[in-house]
Amino acid sequence: MQNIVILTGAGVSAESGLGTFRDMDGLWTRYDLADVATPEGYQRDPDLVLAFYNARRRNCREAIPNAAHYALARLEETFPGRVTLVTQNIDDLHERAGHREVIHMHGELMKALCGACDHRWGWLGTMSRDDACPVCGAVGQVRPDVVWFGEVPYWMDEIAARLARCKLFLSIGTSGAVYPAAGFVAEASAQGARTLELNLEQSDGAALFDQVRLGPASQTVPAWVSALIDAE
Ligand code: OAD
Repeated sequence: MQNIVILTGAGVSAESGLGTFRDMDGLWTRYDLADVATPEGYQRDPDLVLAFYNARRRNCREAIPNAAHYALARLEETFPGRVTLVTQNIDDLHERAGHREVIHMHGELMKALCGACDHRWGWLGTMSRDDACPVCGAVGQVRPDVVWFGEVPYWMDEIAARLARCKLFLSIGTSGAVYPAAGFVAEASAQGARTLELNLEQSDGAALFDQVRLGPASQTVPAWVSALIDAE
């Protein structure tokens, strides 16, 4: 029995129809990250940023979890050790596949954050500059509860504690281009954990892993989960 930390990125949701960021035709080939995913971009043109996330939210609501999300939920349910799922994704496909504890280090598309009082609450529809915070009443301060470049990711202390105790670190569908998540493999390795990457192609950080398995997450993840559960 062992503790496992799993990090997921956009690749785990790619086969659900949600675009990745850096692949050919990825979101960052069509949008300037500085315009739509930074506090400065939001200050310059809040309507553009809200429209970007409104489109992401609509896509997300139309998407359904794939076999990789379901396999990870099955692992959480059946594995005798502790399974920690940390995701960089702001979609809710892990939860909709039945995963109970999901650490969203880059926030959640289906939540709003009040820039005036920090209140957070569920948000499924379109967001506009006319929306008011239900707690403090501020208008024009409601933004998606997502972490932008230049902001500090959520749950970093909790994630560090889980990495320090894990025996196996698994990275799925992330390019390893964005820190601090890209540094988790080195942190886990330094604590003596085995490390495995499941990705469509070699990521930037592939050399840091003990083992790399290439292929679509909908195939590699269920196969890995089944083998692990059978071995217990
Ligand atoms: P990227 O777009 O950088 O990387 C996606 C990775 O998924 C690539 O390595 C692909 O090879 C892989 N991939 C694509 N399809 C796959 C499939 N079917 N199965 C398995 N792997 C597949 O996305 P992230 O690494 O998640 O942050 O990006 C990290 C962060 O950068 C995001 O959370 C976001 C972005 O800017 C913020 O916006 C703060």
